[in-house]
Amino acid sequence: MGASVLGRPYQRRDGTLWCEGVALERLADAVGTPAYVYSANALRERFRALDAALAAVPHRIHYSLKANSSRGLLQVLRAEGCRADVVSGGELMRARRAGFAPDDIIFGGVGKRRDEIRAAIESRVLLLNVESAAELDIAIEEAQSLGTRARIAFRVNPEVHVANAHEFIATGSRGHKFGIPWGEVPALAARALASPHVELSGLDMHVGSQLTNLEPYRDGVARLAALARELQRQGAPLRFFDAGGGLPARYDAEEAPDLALFAEIIVPVVNDLGLELIVEPGRFVVAESCVLLTRVLYRKPSGGTDFVICDAGMSELLRPSHYDAFHKVEAVRPRGGTATVDVVGPICETGDFIARDRLMDDPAPGDVLAVHTAGAYGYVMALTYNTRPRAPEVLVDGSRWAVITRRETLDDLVRLEAETVEWAEG
Ligand code: LLP
Repeated sequence: MGASVLGRPYQRRDGTLWCEGVALERLADAVGTPAYVYSANALRERFRALDAALAAVPHRIHYSLKANSSRGLLQVLRAEGCRADVVSGGELMRARRAGFAPDDIIFGGVGKRRDEIRAAIESRVLLLNVESAAELDIAIEEAQSLGTRARIAFRVNPEVHVANAHEFIATGSRGHKFGIPWGEVPALAARALASPHVELSGLDMHVGSQLTNLEPYRDGVARLAALARELQRQGAPLRFFDAGGGLPARYDAEEAPDLALFAEIIVPVVNDLGLELIVEPGRFVVAESCVLLTRVLYRKPSGGTDFVICDAGMSELLRPSHYDAFHKVEAVRPRGGTATVDVVGPICETGDFIARDRLMDDPAPGDVLAVHTAGAYGYVMALTYNTRPRAPEVLVDGSRWAVITRRETLDDLVRLEAETVEWAEG
């Protein structure tokens, strides 16, 4: 059984698109556009499906806040028993505000500052994922100065090649900036084991993101398991085997990830090692729960291209222009007929587009479009370029809805600017 059983929270009824029990037209009128809409039940369903798939091994699902860190969503996930994976002091603050206990948080990131490392150790997070020799030194120093023993894991670069990944989201190959280079791990482990200020409790990797083919996981898991055995022989008191994130979302015609196969790859290996499994999914949990609603402002044929100019663009969803990513776009209430268009935003950049050369519902000014699978790396990567306030986030749960993040105001955007310039002497 694959995860193809996962539902589609956005369904058409009476010719118009709904999120669970709420019509998107109604939301667009009530909160305005652009707006991100999320289905609470889609989040719950994905968490539960993964949790059930991993039932045969002791495991912890640490949702990766980098995909979307809004409190309203975090609270839905926390209520399900989900935990948190953070990569900055800011995300640590968000996880704590959403009610996650320190013990339910792991802290990673390739460029942690000393104060962030200290804050993570001080708040007693479950694991600090160390990514380099220099970072290990800082962790030891900070734990010593706090008079404590920090629980750490090594994030290693599994040096697994992932075919088809956009080069910007490939992370786990030799030569990427992430993780401890494979060959350095045993020496670093010896250093950690010699220190009374850190406890080497886990091994962590992140093979890559949007892994529509699970084979790279198989390679990564086998490699990490061999390393775990080596470190256990060295005397490391390992408790956790962290397989990272990377489960994919459906953007176009992809299959849902086969969670049974995912479990089949990981569960026996981790059980054999006698460790607890950690996974750090971001995209899989949140991407498909969301549509970005945008209103068509103009239709403008120019130089052979039929532009649909909308009130959302790269500032609300950077993925198309940054990764050449595909996001399905449809009219909330189609008028009938199709057209091949470029769906673009209002930003003064030629790279400001949501879809190019796309055959889709033929829209007119005033129509509302739904841009699908916008929940992961959407709001969190939003820009305020051209002084355009960030759009609100709306959570739907059954027939109810709530604004969980308000629309930013123009005052919010200029709040940090000094009203009068106060000079300091050189
Ligand atoms: N754990 C680590 C260590 C990671 O680096 C990442 C993502 C995750 C977990 C979560 O991965 P996921 O399950 O979401 O694939 N902005 C890009 C994606 C960057 C992902 C970076 N690392 C995008 O929009 O595609």
